[in-house]
Amino acid sequence: MLNEDGLTMRPFVFINVAVTADGKMDTSERKGSAISSPEDNERVQQLRSESDAVMVGGHTLLDEDPKLTIKSNRLRLERKARGLPENPIKVGVVTKADLRLDGNFMMDGTARRVIFTTSKTSPEQIKALEALGAEVYISDSSRVDLVSAFETLSGMGVHRLMVEGGGTLNFELLRQGLVDELMIYLAAKIFGGQTAPTLAEGKGYFDFSALKLELLNVQKADDRGGVLLHYKIPKIKKEDNHDN
Ligand SMILES: NC(=O)c1ccc[n+]([C@@H]2O[C@H](COP(=O)([O-])OP(=O)(O)OC[C@H]3O[C@@H](n4cnc5c(N)ncnc54)[C@H](OP(=O)(O)O)[C@@H]3O)[C@@H](O)[C@H]2O)c1
Repeated sequence: MLNEDGLTMRPFVFINVAVTADGKMDTSERKGSAISSPEDNERVQQLRSESDAVMVGGHTLLDEDPKLTIKSNRLRLERKARGLPENPIKVGVVTKADLRLDGNFMMDGTARRVIFTTSKTSPEQIKALEALGAEVYISDSSRVDLVSAFETLSGMGVHRLMVEGGGTLNFELLRQGLVDELMIYLAAKIFGGQTAPTLAEGKGYFDFSALKLELLNVQKADDRGGVLLHYKIPKIKKEDNHDN
């Protein structure tokens, strides 16, 4: 499916992350640390409620089993009043989709669940996920093809996609020029730790090829020293090669 510019159809995509002042998304234990303040959690809920789908990467999905639903009754009712389902579509991008069948992603709230995976997921697990109502898309390659995943989501009527990490998925999306905006909650604390994940993992860029961001807004987020940074990601031109 192509848009009027002859490009593959994709939703408007934004990444929302919470990091410490030293840029860490979690401690080196990788158990899913609470970085956001209560005020920021409210903002995240609002962002979810304004999105058609919420996406996470494989490690976040398998290790943290996130709910990805909207907690607030009011926000869910407002969505329904707008003619939308009460929760956005939950989306997982995972090489081997060995997620818990009775876990939060699969069971929490009424939401459409979509899983993009590869043939490393066993046919039995795919059947079990589908029997519980999940829609499973299997990529031919060893990784999920994100361009075709976005095309599939567009076909489902997803116009606005919120990506909630982790760092490997974030980097892959940024590298492929598939992100429009980046929102960062910067907490006034430091985790440190050489192996603690940052908001963009993967292979990384060289200095000369770094992805440049355009600052849209800076805002105080709470009384705990938290700051919100809102960036636009300029479109990557074909001649700009950001790969190393
Ligand atoms: N603070 C925050 O806002 C926030 C939000 C979310 C997560 N986190 C933290 O981030 C950490 C997890 O991040 P992570 O970088 O390890 O993993 P991730 O981004 O959650 O998942 C990445 C994995 O997804 C799979 N995958 C399959 N196709 C892919 C594709 N095309 N592109 C990218 N990934 C693909 C790969 O699994 P295989 O390696 O198995 O092939 C890949 O390693 C956790 O510590 C979590 O707590 C923090």
